Amino acid sequence: MVVTVKRKAHFNAAHRLFRKDWNDERNFEVFGKCSYPNYHGHNYEVVVSVTGPIEEETGFVIDLNELKKIIKDEVEEPFDHRNFNLDIPEFADLNPTAENITIVIYNRLRPHIKGVLNLSIELHETARNTVTYSG
Ligand code: NI
Repeated sequence: MVVTVKRKAHFNAAHRLFRKDWNDERNFEVFGKCSYPNYHGHNYEVVVSVTGPIEEETGFVIDLNELKKIIKDEVEEPFDHRNFNLDIPEFADLNPTAENITIVIYNRLRPHIKGVLNLSIELHETARNTVTYSG
């Protein structure tokens, strides 16, 4: 029996979408207001899905308390009230689009989750814009 469990998380963070090798005009053409030099923020919602067999001994796919702690340590604590461009090392040379943030979250969580389990990340940057990545 393969079952999916999901844990929701939340953080607020700032970013600016731009390429260092483009001028402000070119960045505005491609990224619009998201390229304004002084940054802007989002209330990010993350849904982390873990899919796999139910362990007979516990009845769990994954202990949700353990998953909660992993998400807190790897995502909520480091990202909340931070600036992706300035504060998060993965974005030193990577545009912090919702797509790239989703992949960074996946890469931070993956090592902490057993290989037999599938991991999927759903990032809601706004109520209308969502990105998913499953490796
Ligand atoms: Ni934005």
